[in-house]
Amino acid sequence: MSESPARVAVVTGAARGIGAATAVRLAADGFAVAVLDLDEASTAGTVQAIEAAGGRALAVGADVGDAGQVQAAVDRVAAELGPPVVLVNNAGVTRDNLLFKMTDADWDLVMTVHLRGSFLMTRACQKHMVDAGWGRIVNLSSTSALGNRGQANYATAKAGLQGFTKTLAIELGRFGVTANAIAPGFIQTEMTKATAERIGRNWEEYVAERAAAIPVARAGVPEDIAHTVSFFVSEGAGFVSGQVVYVAGGPRT
Ligand SMILES: NC(=O)c1ccc[n+]([C@@H]2O[C@H](COP(=O)([O-])OP(=O)(O)OC[C@H]3O[C@@H](n4cnc5c(N)ncnc54)[C@H](O)[C@@H]3O)[C@@H](O)[C@H]2O)c1
Repeated sequence: MSESPARVAVVTGAARGIGAATAVRLAADGFAVAVLDLDEASTAGTVQAIEAAGGRALAVGADVGDAGQVQAAVDRVAAELGPPVVLVNNAGVTRDNLLFKMTDADWDLVMTVHLRGSFLMTRACQKHMVDAGWGRIVNLSSTSALGNRGQANYATAKAGLQGFTKTLAIELGRFGVTANAIAPGFIQTEMTKATAERIGRNWEEYVAERAAAIPVARAGVPEDIAHTVSFFVSEGAGFVSGQVVYVAGGPRT
């Protein structure tokens, strides 16, 4: 009996951080993975890690906020790897500032990448999921959705993604497609390193201080989030939809 081809997953923002760990994990779980980020060349490390472990990966360059680039990217994934039936909307940026100092551009970029980006990617991929009668969508929210000083733009986008997720669950459930969100707490990545730098903090001290406030007494790592994605996209999680799981070492840190 010939083996059926691997299901295809797309992970956005997968050049580094949480996206890279998720792409590697989904490949280890048996998916063929499209490793998407702004610059195709930046995804080489993730692609190599997947291939070195015996998995299948495709490097894809696209700005998730650009409708034309998103459609071209999803078409390319479908043609070269197969129809994408798993989508992880992970690409993200921060442009933190107190409200009175936040510029129009800071607001618009954060909305564009998180909200418009997740919308465009999901709209382009859902057709393949509906055709297959099976799909999994995972959106990256954040504990910042509960409110966070200096992040009016980011908190709004991350809360918006929770409403987006629940609506996808309602609209797409009948086609065998689930949609869930993960709201990470403090995870050690380039994004949080940049935050420490911006506020003039030494990285190691900043991590230790954050960890001290987390109930499980450590900072998160990208693999903590990848593990939760792996659960949501698994076959057995087909009755779990429209949920938001806070992966923060506690209820909201
Ligand atoms: N690190 C944390 O503590 C934390 C906490 C909560 C939520 N998150 C969310 O998790 C996700 C990943 O965060 P991370 O910490 O790994 O960040 P990161 O900055 O390390 O990686 C983000 C990736 O997204 C890519 N990206 C940015 N804009 C893009 C665009 N327009 N199109 C395509 N790719 C784009 C970047 O190039 C980068 O590779 C983000 O959505 C972030 O908001 C992170």
